[in-house]
Amino acid sequence: MTNTTIASQSPAATAGATPQVNPSAPAAPVYPVWEKLGLGPNPVFLAPLAGVSDAPFRRLCAEQGAALTYVEMLSATALLYSSPRTFEMMRRHPAESILGVQVTGKTVDEVGRAVALLSEHSYETIDLNMGCPVSKVVKSGCGSAILRDPQRVYDTVRAAVAATDKPLSVKIRLGWDRSSYTYLEVADAAERGGAAWITVHGRLRCDDYAIPVDLERIAEIKRRLTIPVVGNGNVFSAADAEWMRRRTGVDGVMVSRGALGNPWIFRAITTGDASVAVDEWRRAVLDHLAWQLEEYGEKGFAAVCMRKHLLWYVKGWPGAKRLREDLSKIDTLAQAGQLIAEYADSLVAQGVTERLPLTQDGDPEQRFVWDPKYDMDRQLDRGVGDDHMSQI
Ligand SMILES: Cc1cc2nc3c(=O)[nH]c(=O)nc-3n(C[C@H](O)[C@H](O)[C@H](O)COP(=O)(O)O)c2cc1C
Repeated sequence: MTNTTIASQSPAATAGATPQVNPSAPAAPVYPVWEKLGLGPNPVFLAPLAGVSDAPFRRLCAEQGAALTYVEMLSATALLYSSPRTFEMMRRHPAESILGVQVTGKTVDEVGRAVALLSEHSYETIDLNMGCPVSKVVKSGCGSAILRDPQRVYDTVRAAVAATDKPLSVKIRLGWDRSSYTYLEVADAAERGGAAWITVHGRLRCDDYAIPVDLERIAEIKRRLTIPVVGNGNVFSAADAEWMRRRTGVDGVMVSRGALGNPWIFRAITTGDASVAVDEWRRAVLDHLAWQLEEYGEKGFAAVCMRKHLLWYVKGWPGAKRLREDLSKIDTLAQAGQLIAEYADSLVAQGVTERLPLTQDGDPEQRFVWDPKYDMDRQLDRGVGDDHMSQI
């Protein structure tokens, strides 16, 4: 294990002004695995997001430029027990072109069997979660608990790679806590075990979202490995994505909270166009509602799932306090659609054409960053908690 003493601070704190997106920058190398998946250079991924990255939301993000999206994290145990909720989460919509699935498990054997099963489904790629910090997940030896044992990382990746002919990736954090930065051993183990790439969330298991993302350590992993490295953490804008690429040299960026209520972040990162017009906002939110209805039917669950998205969508639009209050009470998707359409009409009547910027310019360490923390812990618990993870 590495007990390194490098300060855990983002280099952005001392590195000057926010870089601007430069679409004409020289193209990054395209790795064979990116080609196999049909991805271009510097791809931008939507993270697996428990309770959030279902088919309707993934479709919106893909439409806006997410090159690869993921099903929310699955439990290997629940999968092997054929949990109905897990199979519901595994559904893929025909409109989805490149889709990944993520799984975590408590033993090497269990992960291997789960990957073999997932490999029979139509996903293009499979990811192993070794970063989830949720207590009930790590207590059962899953998620970031695996980071404490690089040998287990190696054995798990080997077993998983042997169980599928699809590209197999691993998503990690930097380690368990400040006395256990295992990222170098873990990254080596993943590469030696045969991982096609590795995604690094630049925080420890013990860190909350207030802790800056450690770009220096992500860069250290990038310099060390020959497989592609994808950076993750605090990407809320095109400038943040550019900053991460520039400071770390990563081969791709994964967006998580930055996509909540803002699927347009993928367009902003991939094209530099950060504007969101009222009409496209209205169309996307109404599409989301329609796809939610198609996916779940008009039952209470669908409306409850949708409420959080709607509250996130309202960010950056003027005078939305009343709308937010009304949306938090909706019982049906039809009611939500009516509220959204009326609100969009009222914006047009007031002469509002575009959403306000969600971030301010300036040093990424100093500026206000839009952070949709709304109900985040409950989301995590609901997403990976009481349903399928209770079987672990
Ligand atoms: C609501 C929510 C659900 C999440 N679910 C997952 C998950 O299923 N699998 C996973 O690897 N990470 C999950 N994460 C972690 C994110 O993918 C990401 O690693 C983390 O939020 C850091 O990125 P960010 O700072 O850009 O949000 C989740 C995060 C949030 C906020």
